[in-house]
Amino acid sequence: MATSQSSWLLRHLCPLAMPWTRTGNNIGLKVTNITYWRCSRANNGGTMMEDMSMSTANCLAQPAQLQGEAVEVAGVSKRSTRTGRCAAVAVRHEEEGTDDEWLMYLEPAKLEVFDHLEPWAEANVVPLLKPAEVAWQPTDLLPDLASLGADGFRAACSDISARAAGLPDAHLVCLVGNMVTEEALPTYQSIPNRFEAVRDLTGSSCTAWARWIRGWSAEENRHGDVLNRYLFLSGRIDMRQVERTIHNLIHSGMVMNAARSPYHGFIYVAFQERATSISHGNTARRANEHGDVALARICGAIAADEKRHELAYTRIVGKLFEIDPDGSVRALAYMMRRRIIMPASLVTDGCDGDLFAHYAAVAQQAGIYTASDYRSILEHLIKQWGVEELVAAELSDDGRRARDYVCALPKKIRRLEEKAHERNGKKAQPMTSVSFSWIFDRPVNIGMA
Ligand SMILES: [Fe+2]
Ligand SMILES: [Fe+2]
Repeated sequence: MATSQSSWLLRHLCPLAMPWTRTGNNIGLKVTNITYWRCSRANNGGTMMEDMSMSTANCLAQPAQLQGEAVEVAGVSKRSTRTGRCAAVAVRHEEEGTDDEWLMYLEPAKLEVFDHLEPWAEANVVPLLKPAEVAWQPTDLLPDLASLGADGFRAACSDISARAAGLPDAHLVCLVGNMVTEEALPTYQSIPNRFEAVRDLTGSSCTAWARWIRGWSAEENRHGDVLNRYLFLSGRIDMRQVERTIHNLIHSGMVMNAARSPYHGFIYVAFQERATSISHGNTARRANEHGDVALARICGAIAADEKRHELAYTRIVGKLFEIDPDGSVRALAYMMRRRIIMPASLVTDGCDGDLFAHYAAVAQQAGIYTASDYRSILEHLIKQWGVEELVAAELSDDGRRARDYVCALPKKIRRLEEKAHERNGKKAQPMTSVSFSWIFDRPVNIGMA
C-alpha cells in the first residue's frame, strides 16, 4: 500500500484529484490557473458541474457569489442574460479561455505542420494500430459460450465470481473507477476530432490522422467492454449504480485545456495514455496478489494497449519537438501549468458529491495511481522529448522560460511529496469512512487529511 499523502498533493498534483471545491450545501466555485467549474445541486440530488474556464487568477469564491445573473471573478464579469449570436460568441470565448496563448497554435503556419507530417504519420503512427484480426477481444479473456459449451461456460462464470470474492473493496472501487473512465469513450473519440488539422472531417476520412483516430477508438472500445463484463460476472458490484455513473460521465463530458490545438492535445493524450497504462498495470499486479489471475490477465492486456497508444502519441509530440521545439515546449509548459486533469474528473453517481476526490484518494492509498506517478510521467516525457537538451539558440525568450519551468517542475513536486511524507510520519493521518454506491454502499477507509 502506498503511503497516503496530503490533501494538497491530492488536490493540486494528482491528476485524479477533483479540481473543485464543495461546501456544505454543495455549491462552490474554485478558480485555478485558468480553469474553474461551477458546482450546483442537480434535480436528481447529485452534483452538476459546469466548466466556466476563463480566469488566470487563483481565488475561492463563496456560494453567495454564484447567485444572481452576474459572476465576478478576477475582475471579469460574466452575464447570463446575453442572447443570440452575441451570447454564442461569448460562450465560445469563455469556453476557449481568454488567454490567447494557445490560440496562436491555430494559425495556418502551425497547422500546416500536420499536413506535412501526414506521410510520416502513415509510416510511423498508423502501423502501431492492431487490426481486429490480430487484436485481443473481450471474449478471449472471459468465459466464451461458443468454445466452452453451456456447462463449461457456467463453470467458468462461477470461477470468475469465486476468485473475485477475494478482492478487497478498495481494489473494486479502483477497478470500477477505471472501467467507468474507459466506458466514457464517446467523449474521448471526440477529443482528437476537435484538434484542428488532424480531425476526421467526414467520419470516414482516409487521412492517416483520421484512420489513427478511428483505429485507436476501436481499440479503446474493448477496454470498457471487457472490464464491464468482468465486473458483471464478479457478482460484487451494484451494476445499476455503475451504469448510472457511466451515463452521467458521458453526459458531463470532460475538462481539457486548449482543446482545439493539436500540439496541446497530443501532449495531453500522451500523458493520459501513460497514466492509464500505469493504473491498469498496477491493478493487474494487485489482482495477481489477491489470486485473481483472470482479472490480472484482463488488466495486463489493457495496460499493454495503453503502452502502445502512449508510444504513438509520444512519437507524434517527439516529432513536433524536432520540427518546432519552441512551439512544443511552450505548449508543454502551458499544459503543465494548468495540470493534466483526468478525463473522469466530472464523474458522479448521483449519491456522492465528492465521488471523484474519494475515488482518487482510494487509488492513491491503494497504490493504483498516485501523485508520485504524476511526477514520474512528467519526468519520463521530459526525457523522451529531450526537453532538458533544448538549446537556447532554438528557443524564444518564452520558450526558454517554458523549458526551465518544465524541467524544474518534477523537483518541485518531489519536494512537496517529501514534505507530505514527513508530515504524515510525524502525525497519523485522520481516516474517513466513505461509502461507495458502486459496491452497495460498503464503506472504505481513506486518509483525507
Ligand atoms: Fe483505454
Ligand atoms: Fe489508450
